[in-house]
Amino acid sequence: MLVIDGLSKRYGETVALSDATISFRQGTIHTILGENGSGKSTLVKILSGIVPPDQGHITLDGQSFSASTPAAFQKAGFATVFQEILIAPDRSVIDNILLGLDGLFSRSIPRAKRRETAAAALARFAVSDVPLDAPAGALPLAAQQLVVLARAVVRRPRILILDEVTAALDFSDRESVFRLMRELASAGSLLLFITHRMDEVKALSDRISILRAGRVVKTEDKGVSTSAQLLAAMAPQMAAELGHV
Ligand SMILES: Nc1ncnc2c1ncn2[C@@H]1O[C@H](COP(=O)(O)OP(=O)(O)OP(=O)(O)O)[C@@H](O)[C@H]1O
Ligand SMILES: [Mg+2]
Repeated sequence: MLVIDGLSKRYGETVALSDATISFRQGTIHTILGENGSGKSTLVKILSGIVPPDQGHITLDGQSFSASTPAAFQKAGFATVFQEILIAPDRSVIDNILLGLDGLFSRSIPRAKRRETAAAALARFAVSDVPLDAPAGALPLAAQQLVVLARAVVRRPRILILDEVTAALDFSDRESVFRLMRELASAGSLLLFITHRMDEVKALSDRISILRAGRVVKTEDKGVSTSAQLLAAMAPQMAAELGHV
């Protein structure tokens, strides 16, 4: 469904991403696992039209894909939940969930439908109650995370990219987000799940790619490597210190 081929990105002297090549299959949860600074969010930003790659190429549905703006990526069915929780703090939860959606479909959602649409998006996964009329900036971090997740889900994306979204969530909301991810994948979407947590990898992934210092060191189906082997590929030094290799 989606192929990245030789994507590279430098920030001055820093090589954030180097010659990254991965094929992503429709209907799968594809985890990108890597330590801090390994290039995960750089890849996410390239696949959202936020950051242009220095080199490399994207293929979508077998065709060359050369979009270069967030709007163009969204139009092609990409939706991203970024690592930084991006909300408009003074706007209501409803406004935040529907943010940008009106423009996307070129006619706005009728007023009466707005509340219903926002509530339905949240109800797909949020276990905790989120007050729809509260200014989003007044909510605890966990609730804000649910709001930005709902903003992505309401777009019915074909490709949903989640960058370390579970950190702020409590257990039941996290499990519920995982359930929704499986549901979306079963319905044919591609899920890109970015994490550095090994327990989440085992619970969720159909396929796994490991990033280390900007390079893709491994892509394989789940169950091929043990957790110890994945850790050794992701962080060889840490694995050695733990006596895993
Ligand atoms: N805007 C930027 N300017 C300069 N350097 C950057 C910028 N964005 C990322 N980098 C650097 O590029 C490298 C990869 O960063 P990236 O954010 O992609 O890593 P990550 O795997 O998402 O890390 P984390 O687990 O901490 O989120 C890091 O060394 C980072 O410091
Ligand atoms: Mg990151």
